[in-house]
Amino acid sequence: MNAAPTDETPDHLPDEPSTTRGGEGWSEEMDLAPAHPADRGPAPEDADREGERLQKVLARAGVGSRRICEDMIDEGRIMVNGAVVQVQGMRVDPRTDHIAVDGVRLELRDDRVTYALNKPAGVITAMSDDRNRPTVGDMVGDLAPGLVHVGRLDQDTEGLLLVTNDGELAHRLAHPSYEVKKTYLAQVSGSVPRDMYKRLRQGVELEDGPVRVDGFQVVDTHAGQSVVEVVLHEGRKHIVRRLLAHVGLPVSRLTRTAIGPVKLERMRTGSIRRLTRAEVGQLNELVGL
Ligand code: URA
Repeated sequence: MNAAPTDETPDHLPDEPSTTRGGEGWSEEMDLAPAHPADRGPAPEDADREGERLQKVLARAGVGSRRICEDMIDEGRIMVNGAVVQVQGMRVDPRTDHIAVDGVRLELRDDRVTYALNKPAGVITAMSDDRNRPTVGDMVGDLAPGLVHVGRLDQDTEGLLLVTNDGELAHRLAHPSYEVKKTYLAQVSGSVPRDMYKRLRQGVELEDGPVRVDGFQVVDTHAGQSVVEVVLHEGRKHIVRRLLAHVGLPVSRLTRTAIGPVKLERMRTGSIRRLTRAEVGQLNELVGL
């Protein structure tokens, strides 16, 4: 007689005792039976998926209190992986899901840090130097383990340099194929001919190949000197100095003022600041991370 199901006997098990031992009768040629839909894990977009509640993740990232984050969800201001989420309690994985507030992606991984430095002239872009010259590594000290600089600035060039422990982000931001625009202010000798933008936009031929600017404008001209802004997505050595010298505008001072959406703005020479979650989120978005 079959035993009546008890609390310990799941009622989906067959009534008859098994007539084969585990593994018996199975061969590699046999296909495994497809899992019953009820036995499959939840669909990724299912509200029951693993992870933390969206409002908790947002609150921890400093977006606002949980209550405020819930209101923002109700108002349709939060997107997860490109879709607006207006239900409460969705579970997200801050390591892999892309979360945006009012359209701005936020970095939610707490183990990734990215800093902006205003590198002074004279400091070399290296984490250490065997000739004991001042380095970017000296500037960041032991802020975080595993920091690397994103691309390089010449020893004589000042301005915005990013340092991060996110190796993939560093690689992509510096690689020309991702076309991240960098903005420079250059002090040059002489006044700038009117057709300079057109010329630089069309591209000029340097000894190691052509270069074309993404943007160019004269910011100021005074006493035989001009200040020009150049936007490029190139990373070749001394590229701005070589480009401007080539068109008759030798550079006496060069400052990088922006990398993509991150701006130097009022950072004092030698100062360091940690990028916000929104800034890092925007950088990730820019390079497809
Ligand atoms: N172009 C230069 O000439 N120098 C830099 O440091 C960066 C870009």
